[in-house]
Amino acid sequence: MERDTDVLLQEERIFYPDEDVIQRALIKNWEEEIRKGKDIEKYWAEKAEQFEWFKKWDQVLDESNKPFYKWFVGGKINLAHNAVDRWVETDKRNQVAILYANERGDERKLTYYELSREVNKFANALRNLGVVKGDRVSMYLPMCPELLISMLACNKIGAIHSVVYSGLSVGAVVERMNDAKAKILITADGTFRRGKVIDLKSITDEAMLQCKTVETVVVVKHTGSPIDISELSGKEIFYDRLIEGEPADCEPEQMDAEDPLFILYTSGSTGKPKGVLHTTAGYMVGAATTMQNVFDIHNGDLYWCTGDIGWITGHSYVIYAPLLLGTTTLVYEGAPDYPDPGAFWHLVEKYGVTKFYTAPTAIRHLMRFGTKYPKRYNLESLKILATVGEPINPEAWMWYYKYIGNEKIPIMDTWWQTETGMHLITPLPCSPLKPGSATKAFPGIEADVVDDQGNPVPLGKGGFLVIKKPWPAMFRTLYGDDERYIETYWKDIPGYYKAGDMARKDEDGYFWIQGRSDDVLKIAGHRIGTAEVESAFVSHPLVVEAAVIGKDDPIKGQVIKAFLILKEEQKLRTGLIEDLKKHVRYELGPVAVLGEIEQVEKLPKTRSGKIMRRVLRAREAGEDLGDTSTLEE
Ligand code: WT7
Repeated sequence: MERDTDVLLQEERIFYPDEDVIQRALIKNWEEEIRKGKDIEKYWAEKAEQFEWFKKWDQVLDESNKPFYKWFVGGKINLAHNAVDRWVETDKRNQVAILYANERGDERKLTYYELSREVNKFANALRNLGVVKGDRVSMYLPMCPELLISMLACNKIGAIHSVVYSGLSVGAVVERMNDAKAKILITADGTFRRGKVIDLKSITDEAMLQCKTVETVVVVKHTGSPIDISELSGKEIFYDRLIEGEPADCEPEQMDAEDPLFILYTSGSTGKPKGVLHTTAGYMVGAATTMQNVFDIHNGDLYWCTGDIGWITGHSYVIYAPLLLGTTTLVYEGAPDYPDPGAFWHLVEKYGVTKFYTAPTAIRHLMRFGTKYPKRYNLESLKILATVGEPINPEAWMWYYKYIGNEKIPIMDTWWQTETGMHLITPLPCSPLKPGSATKAFPGIEADVVDDQGNPVPLGKGGFLVIKKPWPAMFRTLYGDDERYIETYWKDIPGYYKAGDMARKDEDGYFWIQGRSDDVLKIAGHRIGTAEVESAFVSHPLVVEAAVIGKDDPIKGQVIKAFLILKEEQKLRTGLIEDLKKHVRYELGPVAVLGEIEQVEKLPKTRSGKIMRRVLRAREAGEDLGDTSTLEE
C-alpha cells in the first residue's frame, strides 16, 4: 500500500492559524477569552442568555452540596423547544435541520419546520402510551432520523432517554434497559453496514425476554425488510402506525434546569456499566457554547460529525449542540471505507461540508489507503477539522492536516468524556496547534495535572488529569448510584474531578493526554472495561478465569489481549478460539475487538485476589515487572 514517507512520526512544529481563519473566527483572542472565563459564574451565565427560558435562573451555581453541583438553579427551560420550535419562528424555518444520508445513497432532509412537526407527533404519541415526565425511554436504533426525533420528543415531554448504541449486543442491551427501568423501547428492523442489512429486531426480541419493565416496543421500519404486522407481539407497534393522526403541535414541558435529561451508559473499572446522568440547562449551555466556538459555527454551515448517536459524541455534537445553534447537521449511516475508502470525502464534496469532526482511528484507517482517495475529491468547502475519542498521533494529525485540510485548516483535537458532556480541553480555531496535544482548557474550565495528593506536578511530568471547578454540562451523578459517583470521581483527589486519564503539561501549558489511568480500554475510540470483557469470557462454559489487558494496535489504538485459564484438559484449539470470539462478540457486540487469546495456567494476583493487570502488561511489553511485593507468589 502507498505510504507517505515525508511525514515524521515526531512532529515538533507549532502550527499557527492563517489570517483568514482568525478573521472569520468568533473568538479571535484565545488568551483573552481564557481570562474572561476565570469568572466562571459570569462567563457561563452570559452564555445561558442565548436560550429562551420560561423562567430565568435565580442562582448560577449552587455548590452547597459538593460534589452534587447545580447550575442555573430555579430556571425553567425546554431543550426541544430551544433546539427545534424556536427556529420555526425565525428565518431558519425552512432551513434543513437534519440531513440524513446512508451508504446506499439514500437521503432524507428535514427542515426545522418539518422536524418540529415530527417531534411533536411522536411526543404526543409517547404521552398517549402513558409516558410522563421522569419516565425512562430507551432507544436501540441505528443512525436514522427517527432516533433524533424520538430523543427530542422525550425532551419535549420531560421523559429521560437512554440510548443504547446499536453496535452493542443482547447482554449489553438487557443490562442497560434493566438498570434504567425503561418503560418504552424504540428500535428498528435493522441497519445498513458495508452493503449488508444488520438485523436489530431479533436482538431486541431476545433482549425483551429479559427486560420486564418495558411496556411497549416501538418498531421503526428503517431498512425496508419485510416485517409483517402479524410478526409483532402484543407489546409491539410500528412507529408509523403509532404517530398516525397525532397532532403536529405539542405543549413543551417546562423543565427545571436540573431535571434529568438523559442517561448514557459507559464503561468503568468494574463490570457494571455506569449510567451517566445529565441534566437539562447546564448541558444545553455547555454543549452549545463549545460547539459554537470550537467549530466556529456561522449561518450557512454544513456540519458533519461522524460519531454515532449511541455515544456521547453523537448526543452532544450530532444532535443537541448543532440544533441548539440552528445549524444543519449531517447524520450519516455508514462506514468510512464503504463502498470505498473515499466515502467520507465523497460526502464532503457532495454536500459541501464545512466542519468535519471524526475519530483518530478513522483517520489512521483511511491513511492506509494512501492519498489517492482524498485527492479524488474537492474538499475546499472545509473550514474546520476536528477529532475526538483518543489521543491523535502526530503522524495521523499531519496526514489529516495535509491531505484533508490542504495545510490551511486548523484541527481541533477535543478532549472530553461521556461524563463531561462537552469539550473541556480543546483548541479554538485561533489557537496555535501542536500535533498530538489537545492544547488548553476551554474558557471557563480549569484543568490541571496533579499527583495522587492533588498537588500540581512539575511541568513535563505525568500525573492525573483533574478538573478543578464545576462546569455546566457536567454529569450530576451515576443513575441510582450516588455512592459510586463519589467513589469513582471525587474521592481519591478531594475537591477535584478525577477524569481517569493520565496527562502531562508542557512549558506552554499545553496538555498531552497519555491514556486511561484505570482499567478501561480504548478500542477505536470506544470505551470498554477490562472487567466487562473478563466476565464475558468467564460466562463461556470452558473458561475458568480470565484477565484482559489492552494491546497497542496501529489502527484501533488498542485491542484486547486475553489470558485465559481453561477447564481442565482443555487446549486452546482453533475451533475454541473462534467459539470464544463469537461468544464475546455476542455478549458485548463488535466493539470488543479481540487481538490475541493466550492460555495460561495461573494469573498474577495480589494476596487479596485482585488480578494484577500491570504485571501482565509489563510481561507483554517485555518490560521489568516492577514492584511485585504484593504479588501472591
Ligand atoms: C475518554 C472518554 C468524548 C467523546 C468520545 C469519548 C479519551 C477522548 C480524547 C482526546 C485524548 C481522548 C480519554 C477520555 N479521549 N478524547 N482528544 N485526546 N484522549 O468519550 O467514551 O466517555 O471516553 O476518551 O481517555 O477519558 P468516552
